[in-house]
Amino acid sequence: MALKHFLSVSDLSPAQAADMLVLADRIKREPAKYRKALEGQTLAMIFQKKSTRTRVSFEVGMYQLGGHALFLSATDIQIGRGETIADTARTISRYCNGIMARVFGHEILTELAEFASIPVVNALSDLEHPCQTLCDAQTLVEKWSPAGTFDVNVLKGRKLVYVGDGNNMAHSLLDTGAVLGMDVTIVAPKDYEPSPVILARSRQIALQTGAKLAVSNDPIEGVRGADCIYTDVWASMGQEAEQAKRVKDFAGFQVDEAMMQRANPGCLFMHCLPAHRGEEVSAEVCDGPRSIIFDEAENRLHIQKAILVSLMGTR
Ligand code: CP
Ligand code: NVA
Repeated sequence: MALKHFLSVSDLSPAQAADMLVLADRIKREPAKYRKALEGQTLAMIFQKKSTRTRVSFEVGMYQLGGHALFLSATDIQIGRGETIADTARTISRYCNGIMARVFGHEILTELAEFASIPVVNALSDLEHPCQTLCDAQTLVEKWSPAGTFDVNVLKGRKLVYVGDGNNMAHSLLDTGAVLGMDVTIVAPKDYEPSPVILARSRQIALQTGAKLAVSNDPIEGVRGADCIYTDVWASMGQEAEQAKRVKDFAGFQVDEAMMQRANPGCLFMHCLPAHRGEEVSAEVCDGPRSIIFDEAENRLHIQKAILVSLMGTR
């Protein structure tokens, strides 16, 4: 079934997720073939939160596909003065061909999708960050496929361990592992585990692919067998007031060289960025030879283009 919106990796069937990665790889290899894919189309980009990678990659991506992107800070448009999400969605649908939104509450996205007559993309909510984790999967497929090839099946039976807060990134990584058949363990301090509702949902999806999904509070044993260790900031956007408490609560959960040594040989290091060196990751690991953080950041561009072409390309 054709995809209408992209709010969650769990919206994708295993086949759709695999197809999205293959399309991203094709666009990356032959960008010129897609130069007119979205000719004359406009993407409205609503931001309630800050962004470097997402904003730049979506805007550049639309330009490279022959279209145009509008940056709309939520404080500058009428949403900031109380105009409803429903009216905003219906109005923007009369001018634009797609909406991407970075929001606090995930329900803002579901409301945009309900009232928009054009596709809506989740560019991060407090609950999920699906564009990021699809790009992470693309990056791992590149790293683990034989040179020159791109075989999505290489994810099967591999293990990604996410160490840190059970936040939007942890949720989307669980969904991504479930849909693509990669094992995912979330290692988080007590009281910072991922949502049990999301875990149950991704475990249900994993029945189709055989992915093993686990949660642990043990940063020593939890990383054993990891082929990739992933982390994210301890205090996400909107949680700045909790920063000092979180630094204390996450003691022992920094990804450092000693932790990398407990994982499988050749274990890769990933981070969605922005990174706080000296907190969730040591500078040595973040900038070391096993870190693939900028390959990841680059792939945001290619996966975003694949998402946009899939949603808007046939219109
Ligand atoms: N990883 C990510 O989404 O980065 P930005 O917050 O800079 O967009
Ligand atoms: N968990 C982080 C991800 C940033 C890309 C946040 O929500 O701030």
